[in-house]
This record gives sequence, C-alpha cells and structure tokens, in this order.
Amino acid sequence: MCGIVGYVGKEECADILVNALRRLEYRGYDSAGIAVFEGDRIKTVKAKGKIKPEKDDDKKSGLWNKLKEEGKPVGTCGIGHTRWATHGEPSDVNSHPIGNGRVSIVHNGIIENYREIKKFLMSHGYGFESETDTETVAKLLDYYYEGDPLEAIEKAVSDIEGAYALGIIFREHKNKIFAVRKESPLIVGVSDEANFIASDVTAILEHTRDYYLLEHNEIAEIRQDKVKFYDIHGNKIEKELQTATWDIEAAEKGGFEHFMLKEIHEQPDAIRKTVSPRVKNGMPSFEECGLTDERINGYDRIFIVGCGSAMHAGMVGKYVIEDLARVPVIVDIASEFRYRNPLITDKDLVVIISQSGETADTLAALKLSKEIGADTLAVVNVVGSSIAREAAMVMYTNAGPEISVCSTKAYAVQIAFMYLLAFRIAYAKGAVDEERCRQLTAELEGIPEKIQQCLENKEQYQYVASKIMSADSLLYIGRGLDYALSMEGSLKLKEISYIHSESYAAGELKHGTISLITEGMPVIAVATQRALFDKMASNVKEVKTRGASVVMVCHDSMNVESESVDHKVGLPTVSDLLMPMVTVVPLQMIAYYTAVQRGTNVDKPRNLAKSVTVE
Ligand code: AGP
Ligand code: GLU
Repeated sequence: MCGIVGYVGKEECADILVNALRRLEYRGYDSAGIAVFEGDRIKTVKAKGKIKPEKDDDKKSGLWNKLKEEGKPVGTCGIGHTRWATHGEPSDVNSHPIGNGRVSIVHNGIIENYREIKKFLMSHGYGFESETDTETVAKLLDYYYEGDPLEAIEKAVSDIEGAYALGIIFREHKNKIFAVRKESPLIVGVSDEANFIASDVTAILEHTRDYYLLEHNEIAEIRQDKVKFYDIHGNKIEKELQTATWDIEAAEKGGFEHFMLKEIHEQPDAIRKTVSPRVKNGMPSFEECGLTDERINGYDRIFIVGCGSAMHAGMVGKYVIEDLARVPVIVDIASEFRYRNPLITDKDLVVIISQSGETADTLAALKLSKEIGADTLAVVNVVGSSIAREAAMVMYTNAGPEISVCSTKAYAVQIAFMYLLAFRIAYAKGAVDEERCRQLTAELEGIPEKIQQCLENKEQYQYVASKIMSADSLLYIGRGLDYALSMEGSLKLKEISYIHSESYAAGELKHGTISLITEGMPVIAVATQRALFDKMASNVKEVKTRGASVVMVCHDSMNVESESVDHKVGLPTVSDLLMPMVTVVPLQMIAYYTAVQRGTNVDKPRNLAKSVTVE
C-alpha cells in the first residue's frame, strides 16, 4: 500500500511525477515507475529499487537511472507509483504502472480475488507478464473497455474484491486521468494550472493545498482544466473542497505526531489485510503457501524462531498452539538457536518470524534449519526479502511498510498469524472440530473492532505514562499469555523511553526478583487471563505490600481491589485465548506516551536500527 501520483497540466510531467513520488518515499517502497501520454501512445518507465539509489555501486537499478537510460517520456499527463510488493517480488516487470498499451494503471492495496479474475481473463485469451494481483485489474479494465472509460471502471470494480486505490489512463482518452478507490487512500489535488491525484497530500503540497477526498467507490475524471466526480453508477456528484493546513512533515505521518502512533492506529486495518485473505469459507487456509493438513500432520514438533518482538510473537504462538493443538512448540531467540546445536529433525517445522525478512541471526537460523532438513515456514512482512526467498514456504503479513523502528503493527499481524496457524494446526491434528475452528476464526476476524475501541481511550495511557515516566526501573508481570505480552510491553518501554524494565512470570517473583521492589516502584500487572486472575491478584498483593505502585491491565469488567491496584487500564473483553490481540495496544500506547513525555526520539531511538542485518 504505497504511493500513487498523477499530473495533468500544461508542463512536461516526468520530473513532476518523479519528484512527487520522492515525497512519498517515507512510506517505504521497493520499486517505482511512471507512465506518460507521449504522442498517441503511453510510454512507461519503471524499475526495481529506490528512485535514486543512494549507493554509487547501484547504478543499474532505480527509476532515475532507467529514465536516464531510456529517456524521459515527453508529455503533460501521466501517473506514477511507488510499490510495496504484496503479490510478486520486487522486480522491474512487477513494478507499476502496469498495462497493455490500451490501459495503464497504478494500484495501492490488495486484490483478494485476483486468482479468479486471472482465470476468467485467461479463458478469454489474456496473457500475463507480471506476478502481481494488480495486472488482473489492468486487463479487466481492458476487457470491459469499449470506448467509455467510466463504464469500464464501473464494471471492473464491481468484479474486484479487496482494497484498492487506482490511477488509470486510457490511450484513447489522451491527457485524462481516472481514479477510483476502496479502503486505500486517494485524493484529487486541484489548482489553476494543473490537477493531480495522490495517495496523500504530501506528494503535491508544493503545487497546491486544495484537494478533494475521494470516498469509497467514487470515480474521478481529471483533466487539465477541470475535475469531475461520479458515483459507482456513473451519476455525477458534487464534493466539498478541502485545504491542507499542515506542513509536509506532518503530512508524511498522516497527521499523527510520530510514525509509531500512526502505525499503532493502522493495526485494525493491517490485521484485516493479514487475516481475511487466509480465511476461506470461514476456515483458516494456508494452501497458498503449500502448508496443507497432510504436511501439518507430518510434524512431530514446531519451533518458532525470531528476534525481539518477532520472538515475542512466537511466545504467543507457543501458548496458543500448545493449548489448542497439543503439539510441542519450542520458541527460541535466533541468535541462541543458531549456536546451540538445536535438537531439530526432518520431522519438525521451523517457523521463522521477521518483519524485515533481513535480520541476520534469523536468516542464519533459517539456513541452519534447512541444512538439518526441517521444513521451514517464513512469516514476513517484506515481499521478496532474503528470509522469504530462503524458506521452503512463505506467508506474508500484509501490514504495509513499518517506518518506526519500534515494531507495533508488525507484531500485531504476527500474532494474528500465529492464531490462524494454531487454529489450522489444531483442526488438522483433530484437536478441535470444524465448528470450534470456525468459531475461533470468526472471533479473530472481529478483533479489529476491539482494537479500535482501545485506540479511542488514549487518556488512560497518557495518565499511566505520567506516573511511570520518572521511574528508574519497573516490572511487567503476567501469567500464561499475559507473561508473553509482558515481554513485549517491557521491550516497547525500554527501546523508546530508555527506562529500564523487565518482564517476569508473576508466579516466579517470590523466588528472588521481588527483592527489587522498592517504595513507589511501578509494576505493570497484565491480568487478562480470567482463569489465572486470582493468582495474579495474589501476586499483585505481594508487590503492593512491599511498596510497589501497581497498574493493572485487565478486562473492563474486572473488579480490582483499590488497596492493591493504584490504577486500572480496562480492556474490551474477548475470550482469554484472544486477549493478547487487544492487550498489546495499551502496552504500546503506554510506552509511546512515556517516551513522548520524556522527549526521546520516538521513531528513531538511540542505538537502534529498523533492520538488524548484522550479527
Ligand atoms: C521491536 O520493536 C524491535 N524494533 C526489534 O526487536 C525487532 O522486532 C527485531 O529486530 C526483529 O526484527 P525483524 O522482525 O525485522 O526480524
Ligand atoms: N498489491 C499490489 C502489488 O503487489 C500493490 C502493492 C502496493 O500497494 O504498493 O503490486
């Protein structure tokens, strides 16, 4: 879900399009391209890699070099795209714009029924050059086009399912751009000299601050001298003009103060985009990557390996898979796994979790697993990354680019994936029946709404942050799944606020660590597992009587004793099993607001890198 731009005006547009795309680079991407009306044809130039490669030795890649090689298209109307691959690895041919000479499009989003559309079009004589889902839309538009672009667009969007923002040009309609969207953002920028389309106003702020927000299933027709809007049935509609008052830096964050906060708020959508393409007729399905029930039933044990938050996601996976499927799950830190001569065999599955797909220790653990003969499944967010290419099977989390060094939405979609995997493994092993599997899957699909409720409650997170921001050290405690979540909460706080913290199994405190408790020391007690709540209540009393200041994260409905708990962070209720999907939000937000109140560099914390490609 990356960047779309379009220009129609009086000036040569190649540089205008490229510069507008560069304004969208902050969103993260892997390839870029432009398509421009040049005489009676559409000229397309596109390339894998950054628009302008930073390193000199990267002379071959990048749109900038390609334009130098092939020459800039000459024309005053065109579209451009920065791609974050979801279907088909980053390559020149998979880059956008994509078309067949009659129609050319740029697309942000995911076409969920692209296989069915592709099959239909191939039965009508269409061939495909790329591996993308996008190409099916370009060819579908061509299939329906009989001279009227609006009619072709209406018919095509009525067939496609999923999220899309589309910029479209038709060779026979020179110097016009058409745009339509559903879920993925798209705006229409207007000025006296030229009109634009863009994924967000950042791309065109240097040209205009005036724009229209395109709503779901609205179509825009953009010409140099006017823009028109239609509903999906071709009826003209009037829209209200907006004016951007914010600067470019604020626009890059979608109006949020930091990328981390923006990405926390993107979690509901990221989870939908990760879960729904893997649910077929109400059941989790991994056939797409080759993980069949037969293959699942061939495994004796499952290993889950990753670093940092990815490993913490694996911890959630362990509890859920073992609880439901009764299959032994061993979770390991990649840098430990690779050097401890792990006891894995060719009867085991090794699940490798990594947002970037480039973490050196995690990649090494994957290679070791393959050498030993274990089956391997990569759960990664970056299409075509090293880990994705190395694993026997790969499933992509569709979180979109995660810019903040601190992982939030990537962790959320990783644990969502762990749940789907657990449900399918449990069903394949006969540990849960189809009805229970459907019920669990349906509850998981309802989680985004619960997360949205948590996001509307920031005051309580800001309050807790104000109470812990001056602490030298604090504990996160929990039992079962809450212990796994306390690990993630502690890491969030440490890495962006620089306050020392430690996650600890609540039942283990009395075996030594409780000696750390001093008067006023904050303890964040994660207590969402109702079956363990009484035990947690005892542990909270233990620390409270020794002077701790206790923040309890639990269900809204939980009655907590005021003499034991200084502040309660209430959560919407889902089943205990699925609570981690919800619990992680307050833990992320408490860390975020603590860092903000301490004035640290939230998106680029000291000493850290987004992708640790070295040992
Ligand atoms: C999480 O907030 C950290 N940025 C870090 O622990 C990260 O999860 C870890 O480096 C693993 O990265 P990966 O998922 O890209 O492999
Ligand atoms: N799903 C499309 C692709 O993989 C679009 C990705 C994007 O939003 O950049 O090419």
